[in-house]
Amino acid sequence: MKKTIAMLPGDGIGREVMNGAREVLSVIAEQYGHEFNFTSGLIGGSAIDERGVPLPDETLELCRNADAVLLGAVGGPKWENQAPANRPERGLLAIRKELGLYANVRPVKAFECLEERSPFKKSVLQGVDFVIVRELTGGLYFGKPSGRSGSGEKESAVDTLVYTKEEVRRIIKAAFEMASGRRKKVTSVDKANVLESSRMWRETAEEVKKEYPEVELEHMLVDNAAMQLIQNPARFDVIVTENLFGDILSDEASVLTGSLGMLPSSSLSLNGLHLYEPVHGSAPDIAGENKANPLAMVLSAAMMLRTSFGLEEEASAVESAVQHVLNAGKRTGDLAAADEQVLTTEEMIAEIKESLEEDN
Ligand code: NAI
Ligand code: MG
Repeated sequence: MKKTIAMLPGDGIGREVMNGAREVLSVIAEQYGHEFNFTSGLIGGSAIDERGVPLPDETLELCRNADAVLLGAVGGPKWENQAPANRPERGLLAIRKELGLYANVRPVKAFECLEERSPFKKSVLQGVDFVIVRELTGGLYFGKPSGRSGSGEKESAVDTLVYTKEEVRRIIKAAFEMASGRRKKVTSVDKANVLESSRMWRETAEEVKKEYPEVELEHMLVDNAAMQLIQNPARFDVIVTENLFGDILSDEASVLTGSLGMLPSSSLSLNGLHLYEPVHGSAPDIAGENKANPLAMVLSAAMMLRTSFGLEEEASAVESAVQHVLNAGKRTGDLAAADEQVLTTEEMIAEIKESLEEDN
């Protein structure tokens, strides 16, 4: 199979973990007889430094000419005083908008060998394996009107939560599609006891459900969902929700696995060009020190192999290698207990490659 992969390393540890992902993908290409053509573009702070904007047109062009996009992370203290319109994070919002990435998918799975890293009891973590599908291009983060007016104590600020039926339908459909290939349960999270947009969300979910008779649909209020996520997370299969609710719930859920360095994500479009990135940021506190855990990036690349290219066997091989290396007690600093040996980013990647090669 011949594929072009656009790599946007971004800033901080984004660059380090992207190098790792590229090496792993190269091994996969060689082992399975694929040809991966890697192209590379600027985004975030490094793009601001070199081109003056967080998402240069040439980067978008590079993405549009690719079969899938891998992104590292953006941001860092260097750009913190940048005007809001020209901050690294704007590059993320812009690429989502430009590529029509409307669904953010975050799998949350508890690795048994990392249970001691999680603040949760073993009994709570047992069987945790769910996916959060977050709406990414609408809702409270993009609703108009939004802004300030008046002054003094009468000054007011407004944000608007608005969705079209079409936007709700496509994200709920994405969740049902995902659930069809999993344990066949969708939990639609809203605030329908208060918000009109949530009531339309709920109605739309019921309409979509009719197309998927084999998938169970439950509705849950967002406050209850926040509680259930830590009380009984194993009950969930696919959670689908609005942009802001999803932002909060997915960060909450990330605590279950014990480290940000383990969590991959995908952002899906309707036209087939999807983007994959780790959940974590650019980690300025450890950037440039060869300390970052590259596994979230590697697992994001595995999601790409599966979702964008349909390479199930290759994706599973990468995921098994990660599992194997963790089971063998290999740990980067974020995963290691006080008495455990700490691997560098590069050493961790070398372990993954070795495990892939042994398997074949
Ligand atoms: P962060 O995720 O970068 O770091 C939080 C903590 O987790 C840090 O202590 C960091 O060292 C650790 N950490 C994160 N990923 C790790 C990995 N792979 N291996 C080992 N340790 C890891 O979040 P923070 O500190 O809130 O933000 C730092 C910068 O990243 C900011 O500029 C922020 O805006 C940006 N950011 C970018 C995101 C993106 O590109 N999607 C997402 C979140 C934050
Ligand atoms: Mg967040």
